[in-house]
Amino acid sequence: MSTIGWVTPALPSNDSSTRQEVLVVDFGAQYAQLIARRVRELQVYSRIVPHRISADEVAAAQPAGIILSGGPKSVHVDGAPTLDPAIYDLGIPILGICYGAQLIASQLGGAVGRGMRGEYGRAEMTCSEASDLLTDDMPTVHDVWMSHFDAITEVPDGFVATASTPDAPVAVLENTSRKIWGVQFHPEVVHSPHGIAVLSQFLHHLAGCDPEWKMSSVVDGQVGLIKEQVGDARVICGLSGGVDSSVAAALVHRAIGAQLTCVYVDTGLMRKGESEQVVETFRRNMGIELIHVDAGQRFFERLGGISEPEAKRKAIGELFIRIFEEHTGGLSEAKFLVQGTLYPDLIESGGVDGTAEVIKSHHNVGGLPEDMTLELVEPLRELFKDEVRALGTELGLPDEMVWRQPFPGPGLGVRIIGEVTPERVAVLQEADAIVREEIALAGLEREIWQAFAVLPDIRSVGVMGDERTYGHPIIIRAVTSDDAMTADWARLPYDLLERMSQRIINEVPGINRVAYDVTSKPPGTIEWE
Ligand code: XMP
Repeated sequence: MSTIGWVTPALPSNDSSTRQEVLVVDFGAQYAQLIARRVRELQVYSRIVPHRISADEVAAAQPAGIILSGGPKSVHVDGAPTLDPAIYDLGIPILGICYGAQLIASQLGGAVGRGMRGEYGRAEMTCSEASDLLTDDMPTVHDVWMSHFDAITEVPDGFVATASTPDAPVAVLENTSRKIWGVQFHPEVVHSPHGIAVLSQFLHHLAGCDPEWKMSSVVDGQVGLIKEQVGDARVICGLSGGVDSSVAAALVHRAIGAQLTCVYVDTGLMRKGESEQVVETFRRNMGIELIHVDAGQRFFERLGGISEPEAKRKAIGELFIRIFEEHTGGLSEAKFLVQGTLYPDLIESGGVDGTAEVIKSHHNVGGLPEDMTLELVEPLRELFKDEVRALGTELGLPDEMVWRQPFPGPGLGVRIIGEVTPERVAVLQEADAIVREEIALAGLEREIWQAFAVLPDIRSVGVMGDERTYGHPIIIRAVTSDDAMTADWARLPYDLLERMSQRIINEVPGINRVAYDVTSKPPGTIEWE
């Protein structure tokens, strides 16, 4: 893949000339992403920026507000991240959260106590002064979620402390004339019941942001940008059936119609009914030009005799590239490639730091002909996953596609332990369909990150009717997770497991036993190979 002559994406990632945005300054913890998502849920566009951002850069961006995120450090630690102090003088409304609030206190002349008791978890906060941040409809005493060691002990000149908790003498500080506010607690987490109201008060009232960030306006904005970027050139999109490539394709199609050609390589290793659904949705319902390459046979031939996991992955990946190449050969005049890169992909690879335009080599596309120089179209690069789903719905994609669980590029090939054959894929597809159907019937589809079946390469003795059986087991794997980096095995109800087990054994020939995987990640991985 590395041989492809990529060109840095030309798509302007930010049409901020026409929209209000709030900058979320990242102090190095995982809080910034959650804050940025909450701001967007309140219908204000947010962008994460590094704490090294200068006052000049902030002034140039003209944000409607700035939120200083929490961080893992104490303001007293050597090398603790700080903010360019000139940012406080720009007159842009600022809200500091946790570490951000302590930074306001310490940088503007207040005091942050060291070595205090710390406060973790729920705390009772009492509002003691008239406050612009805590509105009248919030109870004077209410719970907030805390996670801090140091605490602000003295507010800077011009500030008032308007609330406290037993271990945080200054839980809220405010300087309305300078438009700077700070909260020691975490308004972005669900355990602060009035947290969203606090964020809304800051965004919609104190910073004067209009709630205008909606998926319909994203569609309009992106359609314009895509048209501008590609002109009348041809564009290719590799579809995987997954949410990101599907939504990206639908969006680009909305913008440029017949200039887009999608290529769907059916490896024969997809879930039951998945390939039909991709063709049905894109070609029949949306009228997108779709090259459907039915390559199952070739994949099975290539996979014959291979059982080592890495060898399988490699074989699948290489053949995928070759087939993609064969079928885009006739599209040699194509100038652009659509990729479903999301905002977290850019954040996690440092792309928002301004240091690197990151190009993700997408498993799902697999690779491209070596002599193609393609410019990327990445219409989802500003969006979080939940926004991509909302956008998919806005564009008319069916729920099954929009809410589809993550699926590995090598497909069922890495859920069949040992050799991959058409017969074994057919068995696994049936069992997997039962698992997913029962999860959906139990209403757990959106709570479970992934739920699927695995076919191991072992056999066990059983008895069905009067007969001894010697069949294969199916292993059910269901996990909860936020980002697939870590995961926990899902505590599925016993009666649900029982229904799955009974149905799999009754309906899938050759299966005589069902086991449930109770391993979290780490030490396990989500997939079995
Ligand atoms: P593991 O098994 O490493 O998986 O815990 C983490 C997440 O990544 C998915 N996965 C893949 N996705 N190509 C992909 O596009 C792959 O080769 C691949 N392998 C694993 C997996 O389903 C889980 O969501």
